[in-house]
Amino acid sequence: MPLLPPEVDDYLTALAGTGLRDAVLDEMEGRAREHGFPIVGRAVGRHLELQARAIGARRVMELGSGFGYSAFFFARAVGEHGEVVCTDGDPDNAALAEGYLRRAGLWERIDYRVGDALTSFAQLEGEFDVVYCDIDKDGYPDAWEAARDRVRVGGLFVCDNTLWGGRVAGIGTGTSAGRDAVTPAIVAMTRAVADDERYLNSLVPLRDGVLVALRVA
Ligand SMILES: C[S@@+](CC[C@H](N)C(=O)[O-])C[C@H]1O[C@@H](n2cnc3c(N)ncnc32)[C@H](O)[C@@H]1O
Repeated sequence: MPLLPPEVDDYLTALAGTGLRDAVLDEMEGRAREHGFPIVGRAVGRHLELQARAIGARRVMELGSGFGYSAFFFARAVGEHGEVVCTDGDPDNAALAEGYLRRAGLWERIDYRVGDALTSFAQLEGEFDVVYCDIDKDGYPDAWEAARDRVRVGGLFVCDNTLWGGRVAGIGTGTSAGRDAVTPAIVAMTRAVADDERYLNSLVPLRDGVLVALRVA
């Protein structure tokens, strides 16, 4: 269920498109429409870029990258010497991402790993400026467990779909048993983030809800 009236959503999307015209991005959005693939969309994408730029991010970990749409924005933010680690279980998505992001001039900033996102995350060392989570929703609590100690102080844990069509607040239920089934996992992860005193969080009601948590200690 759309949480914002479509007119408001259209306004935000158009506003987010201002100042960023890119033929590859347009193509990626076309592909998502054509195949019903769940990208974050222009308004959230720009918001992710803003967040990453605001903290001077140079190293981003993406859990659930699809064909590289959200990574497009992080890759812009980290700059030419930065790195975005992408993860996805589907090798076809990796190939598509390479095609798009290479043409966008951003592929040199990407380390795309095919396989389970949390396994790939565990294979890497060190802290990240941003850990962004957009995997299957039943994996959200584990994603937070994996991320919470690996975001640097001053860095961000960001998680998409945290309003989940309103289900987290008890509305919009009953239309999809599969979606209803994973609502507790989203709520559990969100509460765990809120309960962690090292993080200051805000759930931004853009599109389907973007949880942003700044590590302050
Ligand atoms: C919502 S889409 C990601 C969209 C992407 N963040 C964007 O906006 O462009 C979720 C993706 O995560 C992948 N995925 C889901 N759970 C995963 C997991 N546990 N490990 C690896 N990939 C996963 C799916 O194959 C899918 O491509």
